[in-house]
Amino acid sequence: MSQIELRPGLADVPVAESAVSFIDGKNARLEYRGIAVETLATQSCFEETAYLLLKGNLPTQKELADFDDQLRHHRRIKFRLTDLIKCLPETGHPMYALQATVAAMGMFYPARDVSNAKCNWESVVRLIAKMPTAVAAFHRIRHGDEPIKPRDDLDHAGNFYWMLFEKEPSPAIRKVIDACLVLHAEHTMNASTFSGRVTASTLANPYTVISAAVGTLTGPLHGGANEEVLTMLDEIGDIKNVRVWCEDAIANKKKIMGFGHRVYKVKDPRATVLQELADRVFIDTGKPAKYDLAVEMEKVMAEKLGPKGIYPNVDFYSGIVYEALGIQPDLFTPIFAIARVAGWLAHWLEQLQGNRIYRPEQIYVGKNNAPYVPLAKRA
Ligand code: CMC
Repeated sequence: MSQIELRPGLADVPVAESAVSFIDGKNARLEYRGIAVETLATQSCFEETAYLLLKGNLPTQKELADFDDQLRHHRRIKFRLTDLIKCLPETGHPMYALQATVAAMGMFYPARDVSNAKCNWESVVRLIAKMPTAVAAFHRIRHGDEPIKPRDDLDHAGNFYWMLFEKEPSPAIRKVIDACLVLHAEHTMNASTFSGRVTASTLANPYTVISAAVGTLTGPLHGGANEEVLTMLDEIGDIKNVRVWCEDAIANKKKIMGFGHRVYKVKDPRATVLQELADRVFIDTGKPAKYDLAVEMEKVMAEKLGPKGIYPNVDFYSGIVYEALGIQPDLFTPIFAIARVAGWLAHWLEQLQGNRIYRPEQIYVGKNNAPYVPLAKRA
């Protein structure tokens, strides 16, 4: 027997030192570079938060204006990337389209020398600026519509909404999209960030790093959960079915989407902020029936699984908000990705400082000295 202890899912195993973000899972605390996420979601904006994550400090007015200018300037994607998106099957998931587009961007903007700080920053700006354009372009094209060109006079959140719907969001809708981007921008060593850091540790180019992270985010245990929450709420159908549905799911050991977290053993602080924002945006959009159903579900689940530390995570309410804005469910995870790219890139830059390739250990449980039986003699 090996002496190395296996920790499935690397639970509680540190894999890097990081100064990007911090979670206190018992006290519902999430900080980006030391600043509480609630403060950033209500008082900052995505552009400023991204700068904070990437550079480690809040920008001055001039630094923010410069960064914002760079992002606005790099929103357009090359027509050959749009052509590539046109070739993708319209029935495919937008996350796969995003992953393919980001990987392809690496061929248009070769960035092999990751020791060049200027070139790295250009990649950072391009990825943050262009990912929303790629998501919106795929969405339009799959519905048989022409992509809508980005607008330089709108901020990041407003422009994304514009590229989806060709209309400007109301101030409340713009604010909720912006806050959702802030809330999803970073979250310590989660699966997609780790996957990006593993890829970064090989000194792969940043587009490959981010496409690896996008791929990891697709799974229903990670970013894909927000989409699954809506399917689940549709299945429950009516508020009067909530208790029986939850009891049945728990009895059958079913994973209930939008609940539970490796680190939080209380309600995810991002879910709390989202709920407050949702209440405000529903004044514009109308409150969906699903919201009351979700609130009831949270109550029943607190009674049933609260003692095990299972409470709503960020994905529980985000889908309901996006759906109220008229956003199609399979775009929920891409929105997560266009926000999280800021955190992924901050981790990429951090990984490059004092990098060592990830090469963990395994516990071998297979055979040794097995004979090779020639094909003709095998039964
Ligand atoms: N529904 C029912 N039971 C649960 C849930 C849930 N959502 N989450 C955890 N549990 C139970 C699980 O069955 C296990 O019970 P037991 O000890 O009796 O076997 C115990 O809690 C520990 O669960 P685990 O799966 O070992 O916990 P983990 O830390 O490995 O997984 C998680 C964390 C987020 C993958 C998990 O809670 C889950 O699958 N949740 C549903 C999917 C989801 O909402 N994901 C979004 C996460 S937040 C945003 C993001 O990271 O993308």
